[in-house]
Amino acid sequence: MAVKILFVCLGNICRSPTAEGIFRKVVSDAGVHDRFFIDSAGTAGWHTGKTPDARTMSAAVTRGYDLSSLRARQVCAADFEEFDYILAMDNENLEHLRSMAPSDYSGHLGLFLAFSQQADHHEVPDPYYGGEAGFTLVLDLIEDASAGLLAQLQK
Ligand code: 4NP
Repeated sequence: MAVKILFVCLGNICRSPTAEGIFRKVVSDAGVHDRFFIDSAGTAGWHTGKTPDARTMSAAVTRGYDLSSLRARQVCAADFEEFDYILAMDNENLEHLRSMAPSDYSGHLGLFLAFSQQADHHEVPDPYYGGEAGFTLVLDLIEDASAGLLAQLQK
């Protein structure tokens, strides 16, 4: 059975689609894509149906990730039945998810960067209102945590 992983941010147009695209590539490069079901969602529904943010897609393309087929959606109650891992980009998203989670949710609900090797950041900062450097940092943090997540799941 595939391990089902949901990446969650606020809008599902910057950080979590980046995580979805990068983790898809990481498992594909490792030849284990058939062992995973990967998706992303936002705690807010403002951008439902939209492609990722143009700045997010441009930054991703420079490192070989094509996010253009992804479409935003909002987290829903059924996600807690479907997903084994629900990984939040920051503490605010995590608190929102905890408030939605059924008391008997048996999966792993936590911060994505808990799987990271670097120690400077525990959250993926929201790049939406900032400049290009924020989008580059999102890529750096997510590449690192994606490698750590796959290593952990392969143990
Ligand atoms: P994300 O970034 O949560 O990484 O997708 C944001 C996207 C949109 C907004 C905020 C953050 N917004 O305010 O519309």
